[in-house]
Amino acid sequence: MTSPTGPTPEVERPWLDAALPTETRIDLLLAEMTLADKVAQTHQVANIDPEADAEQLRAGRISSSLYASGATAGNERDAGVLVGNIDAAQRHAVEGSRLGIPVLFGRDVIHGHRTVCPIPLGLAASFDPALVEEVATVAAREATVDGVAWTFAPMVDLSEEPRWGRVAESLGETPVLSGRLAAALVRGFQGDDPSDPERLAACAKHFAGYGLAAGGRDYDTVSVGENTLRNLHLRPFKHAVDAGVLTLMAAFNDVDGTPMHAHEHLIRGVLKGEWGWDGMVVADWNGVGQLVNQGVATDLREAAALAIRAGVDLDMCGGAYLAHLEELVESGEVELALVDDAVRRVLRVKFRLGLFERPYAARPGAANAPTPATRAVALRAAQAAHVLVKNDGVLPLDGSQPADGSEPPDGNERAAGTAGSVLLSGAFVDEGEALLGTWTLDGRGDDVVSPGAALRERLGDRVTVSDGRFSDVTLQQVRRADTTVLLLGEHPSRSGEAQSVTDIGLPHGQLDVLRAVAGLGKPLVAVVYTGRPLDLGAVLDLADAVVVVWHPGVEAGNALASILLGDVEPHGRLPMTFPLTTGHIPTSTHQRPTGRLIRADVDRREGRYIDALTYPRLPFGHGLSYSTVDYSAPTVSSTSVAPDGSLTLSVTVTNTGARRCRETVQLYVSDPVAEVTRPLVELTDWRLVDLAPGESREVAFDVSAEQFAYAGRDHTFRVDDGEVVLSTGPDSARLQPVSLTVRSTS
Ligand code: NOJ
Repeated sequence: MTSPTGPTPEVERPWLDAALPTETRIDLLLAEMTLADKVAQTHQVANIDPEADAEQLRAGRISSSLYASGATAGNERDAGVLVGNIDAAQRHAVEGSRLGIPVLFGRDVIHGHRTVCPIPLGLAASFDPALVEEVATVAAREATVDGVAWTFAPMVDLSEEPRWGRVAESLGETPVLSGRLAAALVRGFQGDDPSDPERLAACAKHFAGYGLAAGGRDYDTVSVGENTLRNLHLRPFKHAVDAGVLTLMAAFNDVDGTPMHAHEHLIRGVLKGEWGWDGMVVADWNGVGQLVNQGVATDLREAAALAIRAGVDLDMCGGAYLAHLEELVESGEVELALVDDAVRRVLRVKFRLGLFERPYAARPGAANAPTPATRAVALRAAQAAHVLVKNDGVLPLDGSQPADGSEPPDGNERAAGTAGSVLLSGAFVDEGEALLGTWTLDGRGDDVVSPGAALRERLGDRVTVSDGRFSDVTLQQVRRADTTVLLLGEHPSRSGEAQSVTDIGLPHGQLDVLRAVAGLGKPLVAVVYTGRPLDLGAVLDLADAVVVVWHPGVEAGNALASILLGDVEPHGRLPMTFPLTTGHIPTSTHQRPTGRLIRADVDRREGRYIDALTYPRLPFGHGLSYSTVDYSAPTVSSTSVAPDGSLTLSVTVTNTGARRCRETVQLYVSDPVAEVTRPLVELTDWRLVDLAPGESREVAFDVSAEQFAYAGRDHTFRVDDGEVVLSTGPDSARLQPVSLTVRSTS
């Protein structure tokens, strides 16, 4: 079927007919592929070079690349990674290879691309899925300009381990908060249609149990039973799957002896089988090859066989599949059907992204440097990442707020308020890059508004910015200032991948500074930049106000100024428990009842340790505003509910202070008697409620009995007849309960 002008691509390549159903297109393409073509589709390379890799690309031997970025720019190298010319590489694959299958370009775009927003743990402090979705939408728009088609986010590993550096990348410790925010990130990255030129494929990672790495040591082994996995760690992945996430990444760790890259039960069985998910599982970096180090495979060949059987579809940068899968199929050790299934899943992602229709990334005139509009999103996200955990009245520095509740004017006009003189000191005053946080491949320190710059802009000569090197001069400055704002905490290089610590105290030397400043007895505000929950005991004891900020991104300084000066009420909440000390780890709201209960109401000293209290320093969900909010006892529309029924829970919240505020009204569930031990409390829902001074609002939660479901002894989800307790309050430790009964009607 050739026309006078030669074969049309649609006739030669019928899978290019976009009117056909995706599965038909995949069938048509698979039918043309040799075994070698198929195996090549399971192979990802680190980076790509249109010249050096031209031959491989034209041979159709590269399915995907990690890290390459830049649609059309030059061929410069940045730290060994190719910058630019993705489209030149793509042209070899699409126009130069026999089948013309496009390359899938992946890159870690974790919390913003150029417009860097707070680290994921900071995003989680917002408890605000709509805002988090906007952050991902901006990131997708910016990353696609650089030719990125696939990001390795969201990370949804639950952890109760602040020593583990990767909690910075997580969305907190609870399944529903992490799950809803993960779904929001997936929607933001992928949109309604991932083939939109401004959208990316998302990747929920790391499947599964990675947050339980022994001792908080990255990559370490994980001992966890299937019931805990089902009741906690798999749930955020299910949210991401339900939100349509196109890909998942396997975790580096083992689970009870079986490395995840060889975990047939969890990947092929639960994820792809039970959940019916048709997306693609990518290995983590050389995760297939590492099966040899983990001692379950003698060599790369055996590792490849284990991983393909388990359901790992794309081999990230390990080369095990490319080197051995063909031969494993030919020898009959691996069924061809397993390779076909992996290739189908890889191709499905490429079709869903529209790469066959639109393989090239270049968009003339498209730019991705931060703009006022993207900065506005980053500013709101950074403000929401500020968690006020203590305030003895020293904040806000500018005590006035428009009485009518209207938005205050912007800029210096407002700064002529009542702040008095302020000394800004500490490690981060003029920092840029250090406030971006971990995993920012494309963020630039120059784009960051530093705390010093923002406060100088707002307060003019009423602020003194000391250079962060603490000395006697600094103490003189503290004496002269009305208020000192001390910026404490960790550099981002102390959090993130492979950055675990044995001590969650402040970095060396900072406590001495804090003590010296506090010793002068002047009003003191401590601002803590961090990638993990820290031991804040001394900080809470010594400072009059404490704000935990995580690493906030490009709008760091503006966000801080707006919170300190009271333009915006602090409204972030802790997405992880802050333990009393390192020795208290692990601690979280997941704690389950034991045979010997600890009674907080009887004696707080009675507990599991003889040298410390049992309770955390700051509970999950904690966060203050500059106002005060009262909670009524919750009421329910019915005290009994069918296992498939629902009810309404109502609670009235009243702003009893003089300032408007945003309250995060939290709803927790407990199941006093179940087939298995259940968490003492588990967050199941929340509402963000804006309250004017004196305003009362009734907040209604639609509660479905499905929210009480848990995995029982047979690991299937069930809703039991019997008592369930719902509790509302401002955090996980200040709750008022209401009891109800689940009753089957028959
Ligand atoms: C290893 C990390 O564990 C993973 O999260 C990341 O996406 C890959 N490297 C690629 O950078």
